[in-house]
Amino acid sequence: MADNKKVMNGPGIAEEGFPMWPQFAEETLQDVLEPLKSGKVNYWTGTKGMEFEKAFAEWIGAKMAIACTNGTSALHIAVSSLGIGPGDEVIVPSYSFIASSFSIVQAGAIPVFADVTEDHTIDPKAIEKLITPRTKAIIVVHLYGVVCDMGPILEIAKKHNLKVIEDCAQCIGGEYKGKKAGVIGDIGCFSFCQSKHFTTGGEGGMVVTNDEDLGWECRSFRDHGYDVKTRMNLLELEETLPYIHNRVGFNYRMTEMQAIIGLNELKRFDSWNLARRRKYAKMYDEAFIGLEGIKAVPVNTEERKNAYWWYPILLDVDKLDCDAPQFIKHLQSEGIPCYGILWPEAYEEKAYKEHNGFGSAKFPFRSTEYTDPKSVEYDKVFCPTANKLRKETFSLFLHPSWEEIHIQRCIDGVKKVLDAHKKK
Ligand SMILES: Cc1ncc(COP(=O)(O)O)c(C=O)c1O
Repeated sequence: MADNKKVMNGPGIAEEGFPMWPQFAEETLQDVLEPLKSGKVNYWTGTKGMEFEKAFAEWIGAKMAIACTNGTSALHIAVSSLGIGPGDEVIVPSYSFIASSFSIVQAGAIPVFADVTEDHTIDPKAIEKLITPRTKAIIVVHLYGVVCDMGPILEIAKKHNLKVIEDCAQCIGGEYKGKKAGVIGDIGCFSFCQSKHFTTGGEGGMVVTNDEDLGWECRSFRDHGYDVKTRMNLLELEETLPYIHNRVGFNYRMTEMQAIIGLNELKRFDSWNLARRRKYAKMYDEAFIGLEGIKAVPVNTEERKNAYWWYPILLDVDKLDCDAPQFIKHLQSEGIPCYGILWPEAYEEKAYKEHNGFGSAKFPFRSTEYTDPKSVEYDKVFCPTANKLRKETFSLFLHPSWEEIHIQRCIDGVKKVLDAHKKK
């Protein structure tokens, strides 16, 4: 039986606690035992990995879905399968988890950092200025579940013949003009890591695309570069043809246990997981919109439907006697779980500043053959909005395992801290 009463306690968290996230569908605890009993634990010996891919593709509206080990490998698969590599540049927001930009380096290409707008997503106006003859793609990140303003981004991509990769690690179920995040651009990448909308047991990922050739390329890259396009079972293929590696690839396959967990979470995703997130977001919206000291709540319009991984709030720090990092400390001392801004300026990382790429050659950063030295002067990069958001942003949670009382407790806590810290 799933222990759905588990609570998160700990420093600062109210005594009654808040229910834990993640929690798993009841049937999962039985279902995951099946492959362990049968021994069919791997993508090629079992059938659940393929079932999960099919169900996810149907749910999102994609021709192909490729399950993989995590969101990082999903991005690596996407960038590499688009043929991006040494000599190329990819535009990516500086304000994202490091994997969004590392995936570009992992493919041997160069990340070029763009600023965001106050909605936490890439600023379409910042993109065009960064395009060079080397630019091959844009990675957009639907951060916190906020869907990027895709219209202008797609226009720029079309004009300059660039591919659009959607990093949906934090955005399962967001929509742009009725299309789900992940199938708006050329290829979408998902994470099922521990903290995400749902997890496939700690790690997991998915790539989706409507371009079948690209999908088969992804499938091959995920699987040692095997010739999977022949659509033969890999084990049979190995027996028939000993030399079947068309390209260099990796092993990024998902296990059967992960796929089973994913299938069960996907089944209850729209009706329970996303429905609860949206209901709780509405409670936060109603409580916070127009409140003195609050500058902005997450974008959620008919055009850009938010998937609410977290609920980031911008404080109007001019009206308060504290900034967001201090506000978070006050809120935590009231027993409210909350988080500060995460990774606004990736170019500050040593890996970029010191060009710590691959091997002693520091590839690709120091490669004179493949890299324009100007594009890797990361110490000269500055994204002013991302930088400013550090002082203004904090996030509340809206886990589906919570009840309305937990959301209300967060609302009351925020209001109390706001009242206590308004400028006199
Ligand atoms: C925006 C973003 N992209 C990519 C990833 C990488 O996903 P994973 O941790 O599953 O490798 C994450 C994970 O936190 C993320 O938040």
